[in-house]
Amino acid sequence: MRPIYALVPLALAACVTPAATQDGTTVDVRHEMQAEINPAIVAIWDVGNNASDENGMLDGAQMTPELWDAIAAAAAELAASSDRMATATDIRAASPGNMAVEDYEVPMEQVQGYIDADPQGFRNFSASMAALSRNLESAARNRDAATAGQLVATMDAVCSACHNQFWYAEAQ
Ligand code: HEC
Repeated sequence: MRPIYALVPLALAACVTPAATQDGTTVDVRHEMQAEINPAIVAIWDVGNNASDENGMLDGAQMTPELWDAIAAAAAELAASSDRMATATDIRAASPGNMAVEDYEVPMEQVQGYIDADPQGFRNFSASMAALSRNLESAARNRDAATAGQLVATMDAVCSACHNQFWYAEAQ
């Protein structure tokens, strides 16, 4: 199993712009990634980095109440963001003011095309992420390091699976 602090090779968000209208039916995926999902998972990885055993797994003996609370809070943010993506009727790759990418990155118009080809698949990945996040919040509240570590590793796989279909589809 991959260690809890394993970093996926993602360009971390450098700039964050306000979200498009998020009325429960429209969601701005890039905003969720940059402002919600990524900061929350980084907070969780930070805890793992500071409280892992020699195998890189979350070590309950090194966990303090503050660290558990940090995981629980970040997991709740992940769940809320994932729920927005899972329930949106209109899924926008990015807001009009936040479409710019580097030459080597996948254009947001292309991401939109991938989403439009399978919006329900996108919602299903989001629902999986939401369920894992809620389980992680419970594991943190129950101080269950083994379960929490496994859930974070599983989340890592869901990030990658969703990115493979809706972000880097052409690279497959
Ligand atoms: C439901 C599908 C889905 C899930 C689950 C998902 N992502 Fe994403 N993510 C996307 C899509 C689509 C993009 C491409 C659009 C974009 O660049 O924001 C993206 C882009 C990103 C970006 C780049 C944002 C930018 O600056 O453009 C980061 C960082 C990111 N995701 C992190 C994560 C992490 C970490 C996880 C898991 C905790 C995750 N994502 C889970 C769909 C998903």
